Amino acid sequence: MKILVTGGTGYIGSHTAVELIQAGHTVEILDNLYNSKEEVLGQISEITGVRPAFHKVDLLDYPAVLKVLRGGFDAVMHFAGLKAVAESVEKPLFYYENNISGTLNLLKAMQEAGCSRLIFSSSATVYGDQGVGLLDETMETGHGITNPYGQTKFMIEQIIRDVCVADPEFSAVLLRYFNPVGAHPSGLIGEDPNGIPNNLMPIVMKVATGEIPELSVYGDDYPTPDGTCIRDYIHVVDLAKGHLSALEHIDNGCAVYNLGTGRGTSVLEMVRAFEKASGRPLPYKIAPRRPGDLAELCAVPDKALRELEWKAELSIDDAMRDTLNFLAKKQA
Ligand code: WQD
Repeated sequence: MKILVTGGTGYIGSHTAVELIQAGHTVEILDNLYNSKEEVLGQISEITGVRPAFHKVDLLDYPAVLKVLRGGFDAVMHFAGLKAVAESVEKPLFYYENNISGTLNLLKAMQEAGCSRLIFSSSATVYGDQGVGLLDETMETGHGITNPYGQTKFMIEQIIRDVCVADPEFSAVLLRYFNPVGAHPSGLIGEDPNGIPNNLMPIVMKVATGEIPELSVYGDDYPTPDGTCIRDYIHVVDLAKGHLSALEHIDNGCAVYNLGTGRGTSVLEMVRAFEKASGRPLPYKIAPRRPGDLAELCAVPDKALRELEWKAELSIDDAMRDTLNFLAKKQA
């Protein structure tokens, strides 16, 4: 199939582009390079032997988006979007405009160009605060989402659902990611955000390279076995493969799946796993809780296994090894 990957030079998009190419699909990438680099195209080519066609286009530029879609695609995988939680609180209009208007333009261009299959990069953040740590797709979404970034994911899910109702020809899969970590085993692509990172692993990487003196572990008084928060960390290659399974099983209407492992890991367990893989201590201190963090969030991944025949195969140790390999290659 011929697939357009928006946000395809970013962290999850680039790993998915690799899996798609390796499965024999033709990939074209659309990205505005806001939080990624064009070099990623060369790295995708080094891994797969194929350099995907690239469109440096902003989704807010409707005529340019339509021009790309007129190239004729069997499906779109939509990763492009802003994703920094704290920044979204400071700049809500920037987030709503980019993520919502960008997606509206994409959907309009898809309709106009006659492309009717969409796989959307959603997030476990849409579950908000359920008062329980185990999340499955039957739960109601949208309550207790604490930031505009999360709201945009929730709103986009709703927009896509409405399009599927209005147009029976349109099929969509909403994939709710838990916490993506790790890098490609080649060490050529990984998470390399521009500017100051927000998420745990990019910060751990900067502590390991000495760019940040120590990790602040946000809270050790949560009701968890070691007192630190528990998350469901999923290897980015597993996540990418989930998109391939979604593409193979896409059907009329709108389907939603968690992409997670079903296993929780605490912040201190992540620190220990990183230390084990690197053979060096990781400097950290216990800091106050970060506002908005919940004690425990973990996927029930059964629906994806049942209907997409997908499950996460890789471990936290695999993710740590691949992260260190990516770091070493970046520094070389
Ligand atoms: C993980 C754990 C922190 C940094 C967010 C979004 C979500 C999704 C993924 C993004 C938490 C702890 C972190 C640090 C720490 N979307 N931590 N010290 O908050 O689970 O999810 O990112 O694109 O929508 O909300 O991920 O990586 O920020 O934090 O102790 O310096 O690490 O408290 O328990 P989170 P995270």
